[in-house]
Amino acid sequence: MQPIELKKDIYWVGCVDYDHRDFHGYSTSPEGTTYNAYVIKDEKNVLFDTVSPGCVGALLCRLSKIMEPERIDYLVINHLELDHAGSLAEVVERCKPEKIFCSTLGLKSMQGYFPQCKDWPVQAVKSGDSISIGKRTIVFQETRMLHWPDSMVSYIPEDKLLISQDAFGQNIAGSCRFVDEHDPADFEFRVREYYNNIVLPYSPQVLAALPIVESLDIDMIAPDHGLIHRGKDSVKRIVDLYREMAEQKPRKRALIFYDTMWHSTEKMAYAACSGLEELGIPTRIMSVKQNHHSTIMTELGQCGAVLAGSPTHNNGILPLVAAQLTYIKGLRPKNRVAGAFGSYGWSGESAKCIQGAFEEMGWELPAAPVRCSWRPGHDGLKAAHDLGRAVGEALLKKLGE
Ligand code: FEO
Repeated sequence: MQPIELKKDIYWVGCVDYDHRDFHGYSTSPEGTTYNAYVIKDEKNVLFDTVSPGCVGALLCRLSKIMEPERIDYLVINHLELDHAGSLAEVVERCKPEKIFCSTLGLKSMQGYFPQCKDWPVQAVKSGDSISIGKRTIVFQETRMLHWPDSMVSYIPEDKLLISQDAFGQNIAGSCRFVDEHDPADFEFRVREYYNNIVLPYSPQVLAALPIVESLDIDMIAPDHGLIHRGKDSVKRIVDLYREMAEQKPRKRALIFYDTMWHSTEKMAYAACSGLEELGIPTRIMSVKQNHHSTIMTELGQCGAVLAGSPTHNNGILPLVAAQLTYIKGLRPKNRVAGAFGSYGWSGESAKCIQGAFEEMGWELPAAPVRCSWRPGHDGLKAAHDLGRAVGEALLKKLGE
């Protein structure tokens, strides 16, 4: 288990977790993920963040290849979520640091997770605080609610390096450590997946933080998950991509998600799709049975139009559609045009339920919900097609086309 030198005397000492699949409901890449931790050797040796509890052996092993863990003077804990801080107690026990730095709100999380920290040499820092570690300086910048209240980043101006905790990260596992060593399309997909399933609700905070990042001289961003952004072009690409995702400007692309009992609502989904496609809008149909809710969310993040369908079930909607709507609502996507549809046998509430959920999200609803009893015939399919067309026309209008 070798450390990787990123710059002179700055090393990656994290671990790759090939078994990781579920991150509080977000289904991560089938390859797993990476927990990154970094070491700087200077007059004061500093370890930035730790790793998930099961990976502490890998962290200490890599660290030992650079120096004895007891030679770590400072710990910087940029984020207290347990995929990074879960092994903190073992690391403190082993390294016995002279100081542990975290944000003011990080101290509260630390006290909650590690009551023993009352005996640790913890120092809370705030935005703009800095420490000298010899030839280098560490400047702290709080990034509250990106994505936890405690979150902060560490900037090392002498090395033009930003250690960014979860921000700019991706769930990617493998032997490569740098973005430029990985397939570009998969990299972008994993960034979007991470953003839309974790960071999206905090897009206003992202837009406030990006100018601060851009005001710094940075040629490397080292996040706590996945690949490291090396070189100014790579840094610019991820910052631009974050801005695009945070702005949530409408995109000419549509998603239809649905569940079905006896294929009637499914037929309506395909009819709605034809209405969108004849307007030239690329559209993807995703069954909630066949696709994980976070995979659907990743797609939704790239779509300006969203349609959803469910048959009526016990005067409401099918549970997988309800779960999908709950998940989407929590992530607060903005600025969508939407439509609802569903088949029914007798009571017929489902399409209205979905329309109500979209209303609560503040999405534009250009047409009434479309219902179809029993099996959709020509009229029912035409109504679903026209719904797709109405939503598509509203999207094109927003796009100025
Ligand atoms: Fe990767 Fe918010 O922890």
